[in-house]
Amino acid sequence: MIKFENQQFHLSNKFFSYVMDIAKEKHLMHRYWGKPIKFFHDSIPLQKIDRGFSGQLATFPNERTFSLDVLPQEYPVQGHTDFRIPAYRVELENGTNISELNYKAYKILDSKPALKNLPASFGESQTLEIELEDLNKNFAVKLYYTVFEDSPVLIRSAKFINISDKAIKIRHASSASIDFNDNDFDIINLYGGHAAERTIQRHKLQRGIFEISSARGASSHQQSPFVALVRPETTEFTGEVYAASFIYSGSFAIKVEAEQFGTTRLVVGLNPETFSWKLEPGEDFQTPEVALNFSAEGLNGLSQGFHNFFQKHLIRSKFKNDVRPILINNWEATYFDFDENKLLALADCAKDLGLELLVLDDGWFGKRNDDNSSLGDWFLNTKKIPHGLQFLVDEVHKRGLKFGIWVEPEMTNEDSELFRAHPDWILHAPNYKTSFGRHQLILDFSRAEVVDYITDAMRKVFSSAPIDYVKVDMNRHMTEAFSPTLPADRQFETQHRYMLGLYGMWEKLTAEFPNILFENCSGGGGRFDAGFLYYMPQTWTSDNSDAVCRLSIQAGTGLAFPIVTQGAHVSVTPNHQVGRMTTFQMRNFVAYAGTYGFELDITKFTDTEKSEVRDYVKLYKEIRSTIQFGKFTRLLTAAYEGNEYAWQFEDDNRLIVMYFKILQKAAAPVRILKLAGLDANKNYTLKKYLPPKKLSVDGGKQIVNFEEKTFGGDELMNAGIAIEKIDTDFAAYLWVFEK
Ligand code: DGJ
Repeated sequence: MIKFENQQFHLSNKFFSYVMDIAKEKHLMHRYWGKPIKFFHDSIPLQKIDRGFSGQLATFPNERTFSLDVLPQEYPVQGHTDFRIPAYRVELENGTNISELNYKAYKILDSKPALKNLPASFGESQTLEIELEDLNKNFAVKLYYTVFEDSPVLIRSAKFINISDKAIKIRHASSASIDFNDNDFDIINLYGGHAAERTIQRHKLQRGIFEISSARGASSHQQSPFVALVRPETTEFTGEVYAASFIYSGSFAIKVEAEQFGTTRLVVGLNPETFSWKLEPGEDFQTPEVALNFSAEGLNGLSQGFHNFFQKHLIRSKFKNDVRPILINNWEATYFDFDENKLLALADCAKDLGLELLVLDDGWFGKRNDDNSSLGDWFLNTKKIPHGLQFLVDEVHKRGLKFGIWVEPEMTNEDSELFRAHPDWILHAPNYKTSFGRHQLILDFSRAEVVDYITDAMRKVFSSAPIDYVKVDMNRHMTEAFSPTLPADRQFETQHRYMLGLYGMWEKLTAEFPNILFENCSGGGGRFDAGFLYYMPQTWTSDNSDAVCRLSIQAGTGLAFPIVTQGAHVSVTPNHQVGRMTTFQMRNFVAYAGTYGFELDITKFTDTEKSEVRDYVKLYKEIRSTIQFGKFTRLLTAAYEGNEYAWQFEDDNRLIVMYFKILQKAAAPVRILKLAGLDANKNYTLKKYLPPKKLSVDGGKQIVNFEEKTFGGDELMNAGIAIEKIDTDFAAYLWVFEK
């Protein structure tokens, strides 16, 4: 998979080739990334052109056709002849930022190195380490490239080593930089806000620099640490896509520069606005990893590549290949207003409906009855739960359900015992009042004693009763992100040190509690990133539980992340976030497309609704393995003026298709849905068909007339299936085929 011949590195598998070479025995050049090729014989030689205002290094003063400003590089620097966005910036002791990284050596490693306190991909692979050394021997950089036989994903990262006898400061450290020979791209990024995460945006790459970033101390709801560069003609099914998903949960920056000579540079790394790192002699600094993914089969090919990779090579939880329990979470059912009796009433009802896990959300600890107090006081509120957690868990277990609990370990409130005892334990800057978010203050996880204290507090909660599941929340972004324990010249290390502290805690706790299923959450999907997936195999996708909003949120999330990682719950109407009334069927089927659960007061269901829920739950149990682990394909995304979505899930035995139409329109065309990626020579027998409910329902049972019928894969793909016209808004259809 990794070869070095004639000064050329060729990384390849059946999905891609990635080629670099060494120019003038020194400069590591990027030569090719794309569909696999057997050899790269320099069919597109380096363009040696004398370009005005593109200068030469002092080592080749007269070679006017060799300028770093023009040539495609692997890890470019600013400060001398390249004026494009740099991959790194190191400030030397004398205050300058000039360096020249020259090729020194390489190694091929047959086992993938783990990273200390950082998430890291794993599994059978080969890793290339290329060592570059600064001309003046101030520092060295090792670039890492890991190739997996079974995946289109290439993993990259970089390590800085101070080889001088003076301190240096890293002002910018990217995990990867890639130069493309042209700029004929559209950019896709996933933007949003709280309760509106990961909206797909596609626009033409224009000359200039486009930045996707977060300075919030979290990967954020606002911009996902993801980008795709796609050819203008690329669709869901065809065309080239080059994408990056940063394996990190803190502030980041992804920059794309379409520069003067029509080439493009992509740089992915820590956000230089919120980062710097002082390296003493002999010390090193490791960047997080980035997952680079090439697809020649459009956006669905890209998503499938990421889904398989994250499932196989990033998520560590022992639950990663298990179907997930159908849960009832009490948050939107009760908010803070619950007690033991209410929880047990929910558990009774959940059992009756066939649900499998009761999750006790925020408000069970300290004296927390609203969001003003008690974060950090991780002991039970015995007014609400008088018989203790062990009793509650036992009662839930007796009903045949699993038990889950909510925590928000990184936070405290002014009104808490923790804050009163340790007012200096929060992120803050001297002589500047600390800002609030949801009345919360952020604990300074860059400090070892804070991390140790909270790790221990969590340990006590997790071992206080036989807890099966934990939802880990984080409900504000970093302000005054500084730490009084660090010297002035290290203050900009705080955010990254915080992330290392946080990852370190989860490294320990997930290892100590392997039987707990952890769900990541940050006000919904504010830290839905590949970094957290390493520790936790699922994430609450969004605080927005409205089925219509969820169509776009889940479509965007699915671009990068597997279906089984996306928490999706049925909630009440009118919906609590947007006030919308949607059909019960749509709410159920949208929530099917993830780790299905309920987030409303199920004790208030009418008998008819209960009977419907039992049917939906029963059906989901039959088909969930296909939905959660099958190959996922987007058939329609915001089609027909944003009105229609269709999703397909397929495994060896079964094919599931869902179609959603938000509003009915008069004179709308009949939608023909062409299925995709099936085996043309296999037969698919339609076993179940659930169209939107007609007005006549009988005791919650759907009246559906359909014939069990067999179709060829070729017919389903090439002719397609026609959607029956049923006049209702918020229409949701589902087909189950067996192969
Ligand atoms: C934000 C989460 O996303 C919600 O699901 C809920 O857990 C609340 N926090 C609780 O405060």
